[in-house]
Amino acid sequence: MEKFLVTGGAGFIGSNFIRYLISRYPGCHVINLDKLTYAGNLNNLRDICGLPNYRFVRGDICDEKVVNEVMPGVDIVINFAAESHVDRSIGSPGDFIRTDVFGVYVLLEAAKRYGVKKFVQISTDEVYGSIEAGSFKETDPLMPSSPYSASKAGGDRLAYSYYVTYGLPVVITRCSNNFGPYQYPEKLIPLFITNALDDKELPIYGDGLNVRDWIYVEDHCRAIDVVMREGKDGEVYNIGAGNEKTNLEITEYILDRLGKPRSLMVFVKDRPGHDRRYSLDWGKIRGLGWEPIHSFEEAMDRTIEWYRDNRWWWEPLKSGEYLEYYRRHYQREL
Ligand code: NAD
Ligand code: DAU
Repeated sequence: MEKFLVTGGAGFIGSNFIRYLISRYPGCHVINLDKLTYAGNLNNLRDICGLPNYRFVRGDICDEKVVNEVMPGVDIVINFAAESHVDRSIGSPGDFIRTDVFGVYVLLEAAKRYGVKKFVQISTDEVYGSIEAGSFKETDPLMPSSPYSASKAGGDRLAYSYYVTYGLPVVITRCSNNFGPYQYPEKLIPLFITNALDDKELPIYGDGLNVRDWIYVEDHCRAIDVVMREGKDGEVYNIGAGNEKTNLEITEYILDRLGKPRSLMVFVKDRPGHDRRYSLDWGKIRGLGWEPIHSFEEAMDRTIEWYRDNRWWWEPLKSGEYLEYYRRHYQREL
């Protein structure tokens, strides 16, 4: 029975991945190591937490002691743990450098010490920076432009260095923008769905014409599985979905599906250093037999429905520190 260490498993993608792992490999063991920052939430795994093959450990990936306690016997590490929000990285870069670079180092060291069979570093398409036309390949240079993406680039290349220098079996994924259930409502899609449900304004940065390629989180989870099983050590795999949309298109889609007026849209100050467009060439992972199975419309409709039906999950999150953050960041009341 394989033993997985999933770090950051109480966050958005990590919790979806744990749910995926347990249903795909019912005999496996999963340890979820998560610090439970503001973005970590055990409600994301309410349906999993009682299972005998699942164990939650509250801990920081920068803490060598806890990492060395959980690592022995682990076959595969999947590192999702990160500070993940670009806007927050502009205000407090230090947390990002600590977790997204130093934390990766601590995990890599322990993985090397205990001889793990695979180390999957979850990187991001943002490490390439912005592209006006065309799409980035895995071999293109990295030009990250926010403290978040620069930290992720550091973690990404550090993981690679452990493959080259020490022979650690590392694979690296760089995925585009995810959406789906359990995404913290500071990110574009869950923020706009939940605000629209409450007839609150949707704050669009700049002219709203920035482009992202949106992937349903379940498609991302299957892609990670494919890379973990079939990926070649030391290699990077781009993961995209071919759903490039402007933020305005996303906003209008949400408002129309919920039957809400366009007057909820407000244009606010742009994000400093806002990348205009992300676009990936994901032919390499297609070569491993993976492609997304969810269409953008079907996955968006499911996602909108999920937030409509699960107020119990997101309403408590939009209070306290969140409201403070919102007020400070947008200079408006929620
Ligand atoms: P998230 O912010 O929802 O979750 C991050 C999780 O990591 C939280 O549970 C948090 O408590 C935990 N964490 C943070 N610092 C930690 C630390 N020092 N030690 C242990 N746990 C810690 O993020 P997400 O959107 O689920 O992203 C997961 C990973 O995927 C990140 O590495 C991110 O860079 C990457 N990624 C995200 C996207 C996206 O669109 N969301 C796309 C590509 C890649
Ligand atoms: O591309 C992958 C990355 O996608 C991940 O690595 C990051 O962890 C994840 O947060 C995400 O980064 P983005 O900055 O692209 O996502 P975000 O949801 O913050 O913003 C998406 C777009 O929407 C971006 O162009 C900024 C814009 N936006 C966002 C918010 C929160 C707005 O216009 N208004 C908003 O209030």
